[in-house]
Amino acid sequence: MVGKMTNQELRSLLDEMTLEEKVNQMQQLIGAFLTDEGVVTGPMQEMGLTEERAVLAGSVLGSYGAEKLKKMQREFIEKHPHRIPLLFMLDVINGFRTVFPIPLGQGASFEPELSERCAAVAAKEAAVSGVHVTFAPMVDLVRDARWGRVMESTGEDPYLNCLFSAAMVKGFQGEDIKEPYRVAACVKHFGGYGAATAGRDYNTVELSEHTLREFYLPSYKAGIDAGAAMVMTAFNTLGGVPCSGNKWLMRDVLRGEMEFDGVLISDWAAIEEMIYHGYCADRREAAVRAAEAGVDIDMMTGIYSEHLCSLVREGKIPQKLVDEAAARILELKNKLGLFENPYKDADEKAEKEIILCEEHKELAREAARKSFVLLKNEDILPLEKGSKIAYIGPYANNRHMIGSWSIIGESKDVTTLQEAVKEYDGNAQTVFCAGSPVLGDNIKLEGFVGNEVEEAPVRDCGQMLEEAVCAAKAADIVVMALGEHYLQSGEATSHANIQVPEVQMELFRRVCEVNERVVVVLFSGRPLDIREISGKAKAVLQVWMPGTEGARAIVDVLYGAYNPSGKLPMSFPYCVGQVPVHYNEYSTGRPCVPGKDKDRFRSKYLDIPNAPLYPFGYGLSYTRFSVSKIALDKECMTRDESIRAEVKVKNIGERKGTETIQFYIRDVAASVVRPVKELKGFCKITLEPGEEQTVSFTIDDSKLQFLTESGRWESEAGKFEVFAGTDSSTVNCAEFKLN
Ligand code: GLC
Repeated sequence: MVGKMTNQELRSLLDEMTLEEKVNQMQQLIGAFLTDEGVVTGPMQEMGLTEERAVLAGSVLGSYGAEKLKKMQREFIEKHPHRIPLLFMLDVINGFRTVFPIPLGQGASFEPELSERCAAVAAKEAAVSGVHVTFAPMVDLVRDARWGRVMESTGEDPYLNCLFSAAMVKGFQGEDIKEPYRVAACVKHFGGYGAATAGRDYNTVELSEHTLREFYLPSYKAGIDAGAAMVMTAFNTLGGVPCSGNKWLMRDVLRGEMEFDGVLISDWAAIEEMIYHGYCADRREAAVRAAEAGVDIDMMTGIYSEHLCSLVREGKIPQKLVDEAAARILELKNKLGLFENPYKDADEKAEKEIILCEEHKELAREAARKSFVLLKNEDILPLEKGSKIAYIGPYANNRHMIGSWSIIGESKDVTTLQEAVKEYDGNAQTVFCAGSPVLGDNIKLEGFVGNEVEEAPVRDCGQMLEEAVCAAKAADIVVMALGEHYLQSGEATSHANIQVPEVQMELFRRVCEVNERVVVVLFSGRPLDIREISGKAKAVLQVWMPGTEGARAIVDVLYGAYNPSGKLPMSFPYCVGQVPVHYNEYSTGRPCVPGKDKDRFRSKYLDIPNAPLYPFGYGLSYTRFSVSKIALDKECMTRDESIRAEVKVKNIGERKGTETIQFYIRDVAASVVRPVKELKGFCKITLEPGEEQTVSFTIDDSKLQFLTESGRWESEAGKFEVFAGTDSSTVNCAEFKLN
């Protein structure tokens, strides 16, 4: 075992290593190849791995547990000719065992600092369980609710995504990944994976370079600038070239322009999949393309292990490609301190004390509360303790609310809504019934059958329905806990229909027939088409997949202990036909704007509005806020000056509450067209009833820069509009000029 390695010592170690040893540092396996069952998160395939190659591997994914990983590491090092330790990597996306809201829910908090705290807790629990690297944050910009992985993103806005990307990286890594309870972060999926055509996972991505750079690349760069140790390639092609073999994207953009000098890992089997893309003739060519693109680690195909040595020896690729990759991998191990202590923070005793501790659960509850978005409330919320309420729906007593990427989280740790309500208000008049299964017979989840995915044993649907209707009739208020199954969002879960499962909608309709005072608590990993629900219910609270403490957080909000403050990080479409829909669109030459929306020849639909059902940045409170007309301290500026925009915000309701004032900019005419609005700042303020505060926003040149026709990020003189409001539909606007 060597101690902390200087760069010179690392260089010497590399010089002592054989080509085989260097190449196999670039090989990542699941623990099953090294005596562990691991967690399979991608397609398995025969990897043609030999024993001697497996014992030279550089890293393992999908394994966790202090005792298990310490044993694996100890046995591995003993067999390794240079005693080089393994890296242990795992998908710790929104929590390890204490599970936080899915990232789309965290985005709704408009509080990146909160996500930084959540990531730090996730890192701590993962680190004591032996994990060194997390495959997070996922920072793909998303606009298409048909794509199931929107749940992993923080939404449709580049500025908001940049803030969360940097915050999550800092939360996972701290100032130094060698510090206790820190793990290395991995920004993914580079690049543009969220733009899969038609929202179909793994599908082709067709983006102009301009759009890629303007909307999709900034959040990766923000994570890299925050110090992310790793980047993961995306499955898709860009410009017809698969990302894992895309030299322009990986060498010129990632390592050149973004100056990323960390480890680049492929996504699961992505190197081999270049064959199926039709980009490589065989595994051997895939090895060449990936190595030339600078992919350092091959996740789970065995291609590097199988072909790189012969390719180097035959002069097909320069050895320096292998040397550079191996060096970056050893550098990461060194930064984590693994040459000094290959077990890092793995500690069985700490696992028992730290994992799921009260402090972590309290943070999970806080994060859940702040992630909820109140979409509608016709004076029915908050509820009163002691009321005669019927909780009806498949989520009324369901533990599966931690999201599909919470692979370590366990539903047994989750409190159900029924349990949480009884904990808070044990009155006998409050009743609970499922009313329907989560899924009807018309929806099949890949790899799951029947009620393997149902929480409660699925009884006769008719009987469940009638029982629920009776309960609804007798109640003063009905709270319906409805939504997607948690496995209906996440990887490989694209949906053409983004409505609540029909079996639940039938239940909802029958309940509304007998009781008009219906509140809907909506569980989903994506924006859904909720026109019917929104039209009939008196209140709608979007709770996403809220995590381990989600139910208690829902009770906090339903009964008013916490006044909801969340804002949509992604538009809720009017219907799936409107998707992709996002606020920061271009005007077009025939904008459908007030006063022109009756013109026939306008960019619009004949059968639905252009506007989403609920726009980006939207969210209500139990109180109300007034926002004054936006005022500017001057009407023009030069590049080295700034303008201060101000609004007065007043709480004109009866409850203390938090509002997020958002500031948007529009560049009215530029060398390339600009979005009708771009979020450039926001401020969350909490006001007592009657209290008023002035919220100001400084417009400097950095807020006006964009990717101009020249390909540079710069501002252009001319007229601008600045908007201030409580969501992206605000028309509270003032003009100014950049001279
Ligand atoms: C999956 C996902 C990726 C994940 C990786 C390892 O296919 O695309 O996000 O980190 O495999 O589990």
